[in-house]
Amino acid sequence: MDKMNTKWQDTKVKRAHSKKRTRDSIESHQTPAKKGGSASSKNCPDNTERGTSFGGMASLKAVEYCSDSEDFFGDYDSILNDSSFLAKLDDAEQNGVHYSPSAAPLDQPDPNFTALPSSGDNHCLKLSTDNKHSEAIVDGLIDESFKDIEATQFHFQEEVLENAKQIHWLKENKISTPCKVTERAINDEMVKPAEHKSERPTTSIPQERRSMKDQLKRAMISNAAAPSCVSRTIVLKEAVVAEEINVAMQAMETVSLKATDIGPFFGLPTKVKDLICKLRGINNLYDWQKTCLNLDCVQERRNLIYSLPTSGGKTLVAEILMFRELLCRKKDSLFILPYISLVQEKVRGLASFGLELDFMVEEYAGSKGRFPPVKRRSKRSLYIATIEKAHSLVNCLIETNRLDDIGLVIVDELHMLGDGSRGAVVEMTLAKILYVSTATQIIGMSATLGNIKDLQKFLKAENYTSDYRPVQLREYVKLKDSIYEVDPNEEEVLRLSRVLSFKYSSSMQKMDPDHLIALVTEIIPTNSCLVFCSTKKNCENVAGMICKYLKDEFLLHKEKEKAALLKELRDSGNGTICPVLQKIVPYGLAYHHSGLTSEERKLVEEAYMHGVLCLLTCTSTLAAGINLPARRVILRSPYVATEFIKRSQYKQMVGRAGRAGIDSVGESILILQEKDKSLAKSLLCAPVEKCYSNLMQDNGKGVLSLILSLIGLNIASSLEQVRDFLSGTLLCVQERQLCVERDLREISKDCVELLKEKGLITVSRDTQDPILQVTKLGRATYKGAVDLSYCDMLYEDLSKGLDGLMLHSYLHLVYLVTPYDMISQCKPDWMIYLRQFILLSAAEQKMSAAVGVPESFVARKAAGQTVRKNANMVAVRRLYLAIVLFSLLNDTNVWSTAEKFQLNRGFIQALLNSSSAFCSCVLHFTEELEEFWPFKTLLTELTHRLSYCVQAELIPLMEVAGVMKFRAKQLYNAGYKTLAHLANADPSVLAKTIDNLYKKQANQIVASAKMLVNEKAAALQEEVNDLLMMPKDLPLP
Ligand SMILES: Nc1ncnc2c1ncn2[C@@H]1O[C@H](COP(=O)(O)OP(=O)(O)OP(=O)(O)O)[C@@H](O)[C@H]1O
Ligand SMILES: [Mg+2]
Repeated sequence: MDKMNTKWQDTKVKRAHSKKRTRDSIESHQTPAKKGGSASSKNCPDNTERGTSFGGMASLKAVEYCSDSEDFFGDYDSILNDSSFLAKLDDAEQNGVHYSPSAAPLDQPDPNFTALPSSGDNHCLKLSTDNKHSEAIVDGLIDESFKDIEATQFHFQEEVLENAKQIHWLKENKISTPCKVTERAINDEMVKPAEHKSERPTTSIPQERRSMKDQLKRAMISNAAAPSCVSRTIVLKEAVVAEEINVAMQAMETVSLKATDIGPFFGLPTKVKDLICKLRGINNLYDWQKTCLNLDCVQERRNLIYSLPTSGGKTLVAEILMFRELLCRKKDSLFILPYISLVQEKVRGLASFGLELDFMVEEYAGSKGRFPPVKRRSKRSLYIATIEKAHSLVNCLIETNRLDDIGLVIVDELHMLGDGSRGAVVEMTLAKILYVSTATQIIGMSATLGNIKDLQKFLKAENYTSDYRPVQLREYVKLKDSIYEVDPNEEEVLRLSRVLSFKYSSSMQKMDPDHLIALVTEIIPTNSCLVFCSTKKNCENVAGMICKYLKDEFLLHKEKEKAALLKELRDSGNGTICPVLQKIVPYGLAYHHSGLTSEERKLVEEAYMHGVLCLLTCTSTLAAGINLPARRVILRSPYVATEFIKRSQYKQMVGRAGRAGIDSVGESILILQEKDKSLAKSLLCAPVEKCYSNLMQDNGKGVLSLILSLIGLNIASSLEQVRDFLSGTLLCVQERQLCVERDLREISKDCVELLKEKGLITVSRDTQDPILQVTKLGRATYKGAVDLSYCDMLYEDLSKGLDGLMLHSYLHLVYLVTPYDMISQCKPDWMIYLRQFILLSAAEQKMSAAVGVPESFVARKAAGQTVRKNANMVAVRRLYLAIVLFSLLNDTNVWSTAEKFQLNRGFIQALLNSSSAFCSCVLHFTEELEEFWPFKTLLTELTHRLSYCVQAELIPLMEVAGVMKFRAKQLYNAGYKTLAHLANADPSVLAKTIDNLYKKQANQIVASAKMLVNEKAAALQEEVNDLLMMPKDLPLP
């Protein structure tokens, strides 16, 4: 424990859900690492010393300096945000134009707005609990989406009817009849546990229905027999309830007659199949997809892990399962994806399904997502979330006793469990779901799982595996002029396939000794090609080199579109464009790595997807991001930065080859030098690396924060309960490999001690089994997802901040939310520091001095003088970053800020993303501590500003998933100024009006905007309902 403690006390600053993955974590899926620390890993070669030790900042590399080996977009999250009533009213005012009498008469709702209440409900303030009840029951019964469900799939319908009726009936009855006897009678009769993991289809349907009727009758009778000494209001209410029951029974009769032939598409209405065909162009499911959907364990709602090669079509199965949960079981679903960009892509892609099938699609990524989520009476929600947001969501649902609302959780890229601190967050989330909810089904999918058995044991899941790949993948290796086909079954692994015959001049041979030009020109410009390079710089150099030797004909291919792309790139940089991109885009080439701004990246991805760009040079980042397949994938070398590539990385990269529906075959070519030949052979044949729990990474940081949250969420209040919980983790499954020096029992004891020492929990000693409780600081820490290693520092900084908070500008607040883990990456340029410092106002300079950075210090440093006095370098560097952010907030331009501070634009982008996430963490942290009350309003506003960092008028448009600043500007200038404008736009007109906006994107933007408006309106409606609802515990007269 001492060892653990010492490490904790070091000044290392790192956020719990660090935005930027460490190099270790890239590899870690499955990776061993070389740093010191994890005492637990000795016996586990694959997992040795994965922890990043808490080294001091000075030893860390500086800045933009974002080294090649750390090429990540920081495309993931922390926690958020904002569900205040006022904020929602604001939203509604801004976006509710659509529902105002002038925009659309209340009695004529737009049919497209499927999420809106029926016409009567539009008069929201008139809404009373009375007629709502019967409506809710009938709604549940006569559901449009069940029109074509087949008799064979009837059990879904049955479950839905039973659950919906029982739950609605009971709830509504409770509200309208505050009569305890009646309520209990109904309770006893009707509320038997409705959910069991392995619910089986009921066999005698008519009987079930009869018994439902009986129950209702009996309930009516008990209503009638309720105590007579009740008020007149209660009598009247009971009459209303009786009437409701009548209506419900009639509705049930109708449905039972009608619902005989429904659910032909895996239990779903044909409409779903049609939509998949219309929106995805998929007419038929692959055989494996059908088999998987029909598996017993899927039907019976047991947990499942399915594993297929990349591009195998795993997502569609997940989506059908989620639709089933939402439509048939009427339960919410949670879809966990690893990156913000993937979440946005999915939200956009599923919004149309939601509108057509009448469920909500809610985005939980970046600054999006409500905590706790809106409780919906009439609709189900599909939450699409990043790893970090999913964890916060699950915590929130546990806290509000609503976890059972989520019927299904799907985890994409399940191998992320092995991915450093983010993997630990996945594990915590899943372990909590497994422990707290018996009714929630968990399904995980992945293409690269080495030790599926361990994961099965952890998730208590069954396994489905197939090696199906719709487009065959041919793997090749290039050595000198020869191309060899990879065949792991052959002894030599490699079989000569052909010899390259491209004519090289001597200068070309010198510039391109690996014959990349020969390899790419076999493919482009008609087909697409990805060239994976080991570093960011290499990406740019390789792209430049290729262009140099491309014929002018390449310039003519899609010339107009490329010109439009260049214009957009320039516009996105407020008139500035990267000189490399300017040179290579006309040839149809671009590079793709974390040095791009989010907007550039999006523009490049879209252009590639639509064939405007035919070749991307990229780092391994691209393999993990959104789906950008290619006819040919080339690996420039078997290295990622300076490390030899891992099998799982290799698989992800080559897996991009072959576009479903376009190519009949996909090819990958790994360029090898003779010296790497033998290593490469084992790379090509080795099994994928194993996936290990990361709870013990960084000296058990994960397990420590897990235990804190278990105590905070009341999941465990004693050491024994903590241990009980831990016995259900992946760490426990792998205890023998990972906990060598101390077993889990000892680890949990040590953690409890440490949490107590840090003042995060209290341990009552007066009972035999001491009771564990979180302190206020502990609660704030886990609620804010703040890294335990610096929660004290944060508390101290915020406390100091309160003494003389400078509110003349945002600088002081920005300083307080500048992420600690970015500080180590910043090495100030002292001349720039001084120049910018002088430009600060007197109040800002005073505040800077107060946090420990006087002008004299910066001036001395700029003059190259040695500074004798020991300055607090953390504060000095943090303030520098705060000034960068402050400048960015003022001119909202990543490019000019990058230039002003001589920093890489990708670094500025990462700083901004990281700060907005940390700002929301700090907000949640302060919300739990009364002394920080003034921060709540201030940080809410600042989070908003940092999240969007654009002119205020563009923010509503940027709320739509994937709409970035340049697109928002285009839309705004074209007259689409609010969400309501977008929601009501005609996609064809939009595509014609907006430069370079493809029809598919226009459709998705409109659908997402509609979904968002619906969601906001429904949230307000729910709030109104809550406000008008009679309290359940209203004292009887
Ligand atoms: N039945 C089908 N018919 C035709 N195309 C399909 C079918 N199912 C999926 N696809 C398409 O195949 C492509 C790859 O599918 P998907 O993204 O689900 O792959 P994946 O298995 O998740 O791969 P990865 O591991 O790389 O994420 C997508 O474009 C998807 O639309
Ligand atoms: Mg996938």
